[in-house]
Amino acid sequence: MMEIITSIGEMKTWSRRIRDEGKVIGLTPTMGCLHEGHLSLIKASITECDSTVVSIFVNPTQFGPDEDLGSYPRTLEADKEVLRSADIDVLFLPTKEDLYPDGFQSFVEVDNKTKYLCGKSRPGFFRGVTTIVLKLFNIVNPDTAFFGEKDRQQLEVIRTMVRDLNLNVTVTGKPIVREDDGLAMSSRNRYLSEEGRLSARSLSQALETAQTSIEQGERSTETIRNKIRQMIEKRNGTEVDYISVCDPEDFSEHKEIRSKTLIALAVRVGNARLIDNRIVERT
Ligand code: PAJ
Repeated sequence: MMEIITSIGEMKTWSRRIRDEGKVIGLTPTMGCLHEGHLSLIKASITECDSTVVSIFVNPTQFGPDEDLGSYPRTLEADKEVLRSADIDVLFLPTKEDLYPDGFQSFVEVDNKTKYLCGKSRPGFFRGVTTIVLKLFNIVNPDTAFFGEKDRQQLEVIRTMVRDLNLNVTVTGKPIVREDDGLAMSSRNRYLSEEGRLSARSLSQALETAQTSIEQGERSTETIRNKIRQMIEKRNGTEVDYISVCDPEDFSEHKEIRSKTLIALAVRVGNARLIDNRIVERT
């Protein structure tokens, strides 16, 4: 039976009790509007841990002033049903007032890795993410936390925070779950119009083409970037935010493709800002 816990104190008490029983706790933090991408993390937690907690909280500190906090899709009743069927142990639904009471003024920040990609185009985003994730870790006290590779920079930034601050959590990353046509699943795909949905396919298609080029011997990161840009910009309603061909761990860019390369992109399609990425190993 899934328990729903809204109070921070009750969540801490539950966690202490479960840990005292010698059980391993898995946490999947989410902002809700759950889809198969989230579910893959939740299923991994159920398989790998004794007790599974899923949190849903649309975290205001990771949204910029002109971003979609107000319109971010909220589908709580449907999410509860999905989680009940998945047979998790606890749905943690904290409130904004409890997490960010008046006078809140403490943030945690990862330095270099947040200067690139999404960190560059969304100032303050990662500061909000690391702060809420650290808070959730402190409240839920999980042994393992599950994150998706779709948000690869987020995953790396969280790994860095955990290492640098000696947190007692194992961070587990899981592969990107895609629609049949390759589009990475995202809560923000709901913003897409019918035409936008078709244009959005160009992200994963361009990543695949880039991989093929590299496998066929292309070594110039600039050529790869240009190829991706062309493929995306020829589709209606797309506007490239960034295309980066970079190091998968520190996100630095180089002229030549190295042995292991991350290709990451963010593209606006209508009202939706979509991200996708792929790691390519040079053959
Ligand atoms: P949200 O966008 O709801 O994503 C929650 C988790 O699901 C993240 O770890 C994300 O990488 C993963 N995820 C989303 N789409 C996925 C897909 N198609 N395949 C695999 N995993 C996918 O990311 C956040 O929320 C927030 O920043 C959060 C970490 C909860 C902090 O507020």
